[in-house]
Amino acid sequence: MNKFNIFINDSDETFECFEQEHLLKGMLRLGRKDIPVGCRNGGCGVCKVKIVSGQYQAGIMSRNHVSVEEQNEDIALACRVFPRSDITLNVLGKMKNEFVRTHVASQNTKS
Ligand code: FES
Repeated sequence: MNKFNIFINDSDETFECFEQEHLLKGMLRLGRKDIPVGCRNGGCGVCKVKIVSGQYQAGIMSRNHVSVEEQNEDIALACRVFPRSDITLNVLGKMKNEFVRTHVASQNTKS
């Protein structure tokens, strides 16, 4: 069972993901919240990411959330992406601003 490292540029964090699980599942298995999580079923679009580097297989994604042009630019829904190598990505989902605010705030409160 192959396992790959998923690096999140926005939070500067890495988590491990098995090739047969989608990126959100791998992240949640480790109790992480680096990528916004919604329906986990390709329906809400909050887990939208841009794959900056690495190989992956993407399942069917709603055109309401990922256009053909976006898909060609390696934009995908994390709950529909299965890693085939180590991956680096940027978070694009709707909750990104909220995520960044929360993440920065929590970092500022760490001693
Ligand atoms: S969590 Fe809703 S589309 Fe991925």
